[in-house]
Amino acid sequence: MKKRIAVSCLAAASAMLLAGGAANAGKSGPISYKVVATNDLGMHCVCMGFDTFVLLPPFNTLRAQAWQTGAADPVILTDATKYTITYDIVQNTEASLAADPYYQSWVTNAPKLFPGFNPKAANGNYQGLTGSQLRGNMTANATQGMWEVVGVPAYPDMSSNSTTAQKIMTDPLGGPNRNPYLTASVKLYDKTTNTLLASTTTVVPAAFGGCCGCHLNVAKSYGYANPTPRDSFNVMGMLHAQNSSHINIATIDPDGDGIAGPIRCSQCHLDPAMGESVAPGYPGYPVSQYTFSDVLHRWHAQNSVVLTNYDPNIAKDCYQCHPGNNANCYRGAHTTHTTGTPAHNIWCTDCHGDLNQRIAQGQMLQPWSDTTLPKCGTCHTATGEGGGYIGGLFGKYLNSHGHRNDKILCSTCHGEPHALNPSTLAADNAENIALQGLANPIGVCDTCHTGKSTSYGKPPH
Ligand code: HEC
Ligand code: HEC
Ligand code: HEC
Ligand code: HEC
Ligand code: HEC
Ligand code: HEC
Ligand code: HEC
Repeated sequence: MKKRIAVSCLAAASAMLLAGGAANAGKSGPISYKVVATNDLGMHCVCMGFDTFVLLPPFNTLRAQAWQTGAADPVILTDATKYTITYDIVQNTEASLAADPYYQSWVTNAPKLFPGFNPKAANGNYQGLTGSQLRGNMTANATQGMWEVVGVPAYPDMSSNSTTAQKIMTDPLGGPNRNPYLTASVKLYDKTTNTLLASTTTVVPAAFGGCCGCHLNVAKSYGYANPTPRDSFNVMGMLHAQNSSHINIATIDPDGDGIAGPIRCSQCHLDPAMGESVAPGYPGYPVSQYTFSDVLHRWHAQNSVVLTNYDPNIAKDCYQCHPGNNANCYRGAHTTHTTGTPAHNIWCTDCHGDLNQRIAQGQMLQPWSDTTLPKCGTCHTATGEGGGYIGGLFGKYLNSHGHRNDKILCSTCHGEPHALNPSTLAADNAENIALQGLANPIGVCDTCHTGKSTSYGKPPH
């Protein structure tokens, strides 16, 4: 597979280029336009219902880079007065989400979980916590040479908008299978003439975590014969009070409607992924001294009931909670590597450490941070990580630019950290195949340059 040029795809790509590019003969070659988009995370967890508690809300972030070829070096395009980049989460239509009971649970409970937030925008469409809708325009960030849309409320699709073959993810609650790998269609337009200059697709993952896989059984072990998610929450709250905090979280009623919940765990357990630097707390209750990542990982890795009755290997079985559920969100190039160091198929624990190592290294004291998340440079040399560093949430890889003059995001050429090209999911490879005729990271120089080389190589990092 690797490094073999798929001729038919190359031909298709150049035909597209001729059709799409403004055919001005420049000094070095015809002008054409390219756009590449990536989801920030190769994996994103969402909950299956929101009337009891929320771990993480629907929230996906897309980035895109666009450039013009024709001269020796590509010109990165970020001038929002001249260009528009649109995005569209293809499977998530307004109608499909209106017919989805889990999404409707979000619509009902989101204003209780996030007071002041309206899950419908003024135009009647669904919107995420930042106001981003399922389709719209991306925002240019000239400093970073990229475009971005933050907080799209993408949700695993069970409607007829996904094919049966795409609906690979099982539902721990027993509902219909769903498509966790949604498609974002991303298009670059000339703003003045509204001409389509280039288009691409990328995968937007949104998948269910696995808590219910165990917790319905935990509820059974406490006497519920046919437990509902609410029963499971009641047991969880009882345990939370009995074992560690004196707080029965299943009795908190933040919206005061007389029915307990919905609660947000990160209200008391700091979670930087929620955009907060202190846990805001609920009136009348203490906040935890521990981060959310810390309590969840440490409690389960060290709890004797978990280790004895549920999974003695939980410290290595990340899919117990991370999706999982047949979505198997870690699917990148490393899944199939058996050479190098380590000389076996690389698993989560090779990059992150297992849960006991993560605890011992204090990783969860600073979760979601470049100080604790893995780096490519731990195993590879001369990666260029840290170049054109953006900073903020997440690690060094997602926030770095590489190649000469640090103008291209690592993820533009390589894809998301858990779906690195070539990925085992065909949809992850589609955009690189369209650009350069093969699924590897972008390495055909003339995808961007003109007159450098039309064969595949490793661009200087
Ligand atoms: C491998 C099975 C398993 C998975 C997966 C799992 N849990 Fe648990 N969890 C347990 C068991 C077992 C207990 C303790 C039961 C007991 O003490 O009898 C527990 C306890 C808890 C508690 C009580 C903590 C306390 O202070 O006593 C909470 C809260 C909790 N789990 C939340 C979650 C959430 C949220 C997820 C998903 C992100 C999850 N669990 C995934 C098995 C699991
Ligand atoms: C009202 C505040 C509050 C809420 C809401 C809350 N917790 Fe806690 N939690 C605490 C406190 C306080 C502790 C005790 C540990 C401490 O002092 O930090 C704790 C302890 C825990 C522990 C045991 C940690 C340990 O090391 O002993 C787990 C696991 C846990 N919480 C999970 C959750 C989950 C999952 C949710 C959401 C479903 C949640 N908590 C919601 C306040 C809260
Ligand atoms: C008991 C359930 C559970 C298990 C098992 C689990 N995770 Fe998590 N993990 C979660 C939840 C829930 C979150 C989201 C927490 C948050 O929002 O901060 C999370 C977040 C993370 C994060 C981001 C936050 C941080 O700490 O930087 C990393 C990295 C991570 N998990 C790695 C792993 C790895 C690696 C494994 C297996 C070795 C694993 N997890 C096993 C539940 C689990
Ligand atoms: C735990 C160690 C480890 C980490 C961390 C790691 N890799 Fe790798 N990577 C490997 C191994 C081992 C191979 C296979 C090398 C071989 O076959 O000789 C590999 C191969 C690759 C390849 C294929 C290159 C080739 O010559 O076959 C690419 C591309 C790659 N990694 C990119 C990355 C990126 C990007 C990151 C960071 C997001 C990263 N790697 C993080 C261990 C790692
Ligand atoms: C090849 C190495 C590698 C493997 C294997 C890997 N990760 Fe990661 N993971 C990373 C890197 C690198 C980051 C930091 C990306 C960034 O933000 O720069 C990361 C980040 C994360 C995050 C935080 C969100 C994010 O993307 O920043 C979570 C959660 C996570 N990994 C969980 C897992 C789980 C669970 C598995 C296995 C199912 C896994 N990872 C396998 C390298 C790896
Ligand atoms: C212009 C596209 C491009 C950019 C930008 C880019 N890479 Fe690469 N990278 C490649 C190609 C192509 C390869 C060769 C892969 C192969 O051998 O199949 C590669 C190889 C790698 C490897 C594999 C080990 C090696 O040295 O061969 C790592 C690790 C890596 N890149 C990390 C990064 C990181 C980190 C960044 C951002 C700082 C980055 N790359 C930016 C295209 C790029
Ligand atoms: C994804 C797009 C992309 C790919 C693929 C790419 N480059 Fe580049 N390259 C750039 C950008 C952007 C610049 C910076 C131009 C600037 O500074 O304005 C650059 C600059 C350079 C420079 C420094 C300026 C110059 O022209 O001397 C060199 C050398 C270079 N690239 C070599 C390569 C080689 C060799 C390959 C193929 C193995 C390659 N590039 C593939 C985007 C790319």
